[in-house]
Amino acid sequence: MSEKFTGSFTQQEALPEAAIEAALQVLQHGRLHRYNVAEGELGETALLEQEFAAQVGAKYCLAVASGGYAMATALRALGVGPGDKVLTNAFTLAPVPGSIASVGAEPVFVGVSEDLTIDLEDLAAKADQARVLMLSHMRGHLCDMDRLMQICDSAGITVIEDCAHTMGAAWNGVASGRQGKIGCYSCQTYKHVNSGEGGLFVTDDEELAARAIMLSGSYMLYERHLAAPGPEVFERVKYETPNISGRMDNLRAAILRPQLRDLDAQVARWNARYQKIEAGLRDTPGLTVVERPEAETYVGSSIQFLLLDWSLEAVAEVIKRCAARGVELKWFGGAEPAGFTSRYDSWRYARAQSLPASDRILAGIVDMRVPLTFSLEDCAQIARIIRAEVMVVHQAG
Ligand SMILES: Cc1ncc(COP(=O)(O)O)c(C=O)c1O
Repeated sequence: MSEKFTGSFTQQEALPEAAIEAALQVLQHGRLHRYNVAEGELGETALLEQEFAAQVGAKYCLAVASGGYAMATALRALGVGPGDKVLTNAFTLAPVPGSIASVGAEPVFVGVSEDLTIDLEDLAAKADQARVLMLSHMRGHLCDMDRLMQICDSAGITVIEDCAHTMGAAWNGVASGRQGKIGCYSCQTYKHVNSGEGGLFVTDDEELAARAIMLSGSYMLYERHLAAPGPEVFERVKYETPNISGRMDNLRAAILRPQLRDLDAQVARWNARYQKIEAGLRDTPGLTVVERPEAETYVGSSIQFLLLDWSLEAVAEVIKRCAARGVELKWFGGAEPAGFTSRYDSWRYARAQSLPASDRILAGIVDMRVPLTFSLEDCAQIARIIRAEVMVVHQAG
């Protein structure tokens, strides 16, 4: 009988004891709102911002309600509004074009290359169409960031980095989120730190930081922030920046702080699992492993491979056969958006755009979560199952 995997692809680890203890303290004192602090107390949210800014080497940091909120705030802080065009990835997930639509702007999709990063040729070709790029490091793949910044700098494009999948990653040693003007991270359960929901916004630009803090709903209490510019900067923006509430609270901040301290160790654990799966998939006929560039420090919290130029029926058959053996794969070639997975042509609020070279790649992208609850043996077994099923369908084709 063929082996079957019985683990869960959506089960994350329990939170560390230190996070549980910190949460209990907040619950016991009851001051959950970030600005509800006792005399002389530094709130958990302000401390989280201070610590995350130091961790990624940013001057300013703001914690907010979600990654998507951080991205919309970045666009608003830059003054993007109705009718403006914003460049973004064709290969990404729904909250990315959604953040653009939320400010009334229009996404202009840039294609995906076979290494699953933004197609830099296509970006250069479209550079005159917008003044902002919402760059999604989709599934943790970093493009050649030096080249990307050259293209954007010379075209006068401001870069916002969507680091929902790259918290803990780096390009040539520079933390992801630190090359663009603004970096946005998600702390949602399926990301690299888990507070259920949550987001972080970083920048070195004092005015953008002040605007973002005002936008998130600071009720003029910005002096309670520890990773914010001085009051004189707020004086310049406070009358013209609306409050669009989306703050983080002290309970979530309390559980995030210990997790951020553990991030490097968690990254090493993710990568051990990723590498186990990658090794098991390598040299499977018909399957292309996505090679990681040397300059990239990645976080293997998910893995992708390509069944490039396969028929849609054959890819669907692999997905079905793997599912029957307990291995949950996501596919970017499916006709309908399903669960977390959707494609640029599913976002019909955006102007219809044609990207045939990307369609070929998207049709072959297979994607899988790698939660830390998987053991290395689990990962080896999952790779054996995928390899066997890909080979069966490939040989039949
Ligand atoms: C690529 C990408 N960007 C942004 C986000 C937004 O994160 P959040 O769910 O915290 O709003 C997500 C969430 O799934 C995502 O996958």
